[in-house]
Amino acid sequence: MKGSVFEVDNLNGKVAVVTGAASGIGRAMASVFGAAGMRVVLSDIAKDAVEAAAAELRADGVDCIAQVTDVADFDAVDALAQKSFETYGGVNVLCSNAGVSSIGKQWEISTDDWTWVMGADLWGPINGVRAFLPRMLDSNEPGHIVNTASLGGLMGSPFVGPYSVAKHGVVGLSRGLRLELGNTNINVSVLCPGQIATGIVPKMRERIADTNTDLSDDLNGVLDYLDTSLANSMDPLAVGEMVKAAILNNTFYILPNSAEIIEVIKADFEELIASVPAL
Ligand SMILES: NC(=O)c1ccc[n+]([C@@H]2O[C@H](COP(=O)([O-])OP(=O)(O)OC[C@H]3O[C@@H](n4cnc5c(N)ncnc54)[C@H](O)[C@@H]3O)[C@@H](O)[C@H]2O)c1
Repeated sequence: MKGSVFEVDNLNGKVAVVTGAASGIGRAMASVFGAAGMRVVLSDIAKDAVEAAAAELRADGVDCIAQVTDVADFDAVDALAQKSFETYGGVNVLCSNAGVSSIGKQWEISTDDWTWVMGADLWGPINGVRAFLPRMLDSNEPGHIVNTASLGGLMGSPFVGPYSVAKHGVVGLSRGLRLELGNTNINVSVLCPGQIATGIVPKMRERIADTNTDLSDDLNGVLDYLDTSLANSMDPLAVGEMVKAAILNNTFYILPNSAEIIEVIKADFEELIASVPAL
């Protein structure tokens, strides 16, 4: 297995790009990278929020810029890569982290909602790879790509079909990418969090309101459950620290809070293995 491409504690002065950096896990990664002396490009679809986040980091002495980007749009992600390379002369760490979720049964979720989630959650990381990797490889600088998936990318998850499909895709993208990058000086990790205390559920509610979606009592109950359980879950800053450690140690799977869920994943694989016909 490949080691880290960075010398231990040598992120100082390196450049990180984080998508979905205005809130939650992305905002936390930007803080942790800034505190490690990295120069940071904060990118998000939410203009005011990403500019405010960058201003806060700057007030803490971090060299950073904000760029509004919809990660579902390849041209916008390509412009983000161009701006990052122009501003800082290179990119060492790309965290494709922006994400959203809809709620509903797979056969009832609208085409618009399927497209919205797949755009941010799956096309975001794909666009990141296609826009950033050619430039990163050309630069010959050490690099690391961190794609945010979810534990939902490793197991079945009801009522969040598009999210689950996209996150399985991000795990597949990252697994293949690691093999394709072989012995280059660019490593890959896939971040698969369980529940983290972020703004993701309020944003699900905003989407439901914006699209006038009529939710059943059962699905409202699922949202209420998510609201409460996420509010009492892990601090995103702890996830940011784990991402930094995974870059420095070259850990492929980053699993911040998976102890109970790993039993479910294990049972899935046992079912799979037990289904192989005997020779
Ligand atoms: N919070 C959790 O429990 C949890 C668990 C597993 C995985 N995740 C994943 O973590 C990542 C970050 O989510 P979070 O929980 O911090 O939520 P969050 O809502 O706090 O942050 C997500 C950010 O992404 C931005 N964003 C949404 N769509 C975008 C787009 N098309 N282009 C650019 N930016 C966009 C939002 O404006 C927001 O600032 C997501 O990929 C999410 O799926 C979260």
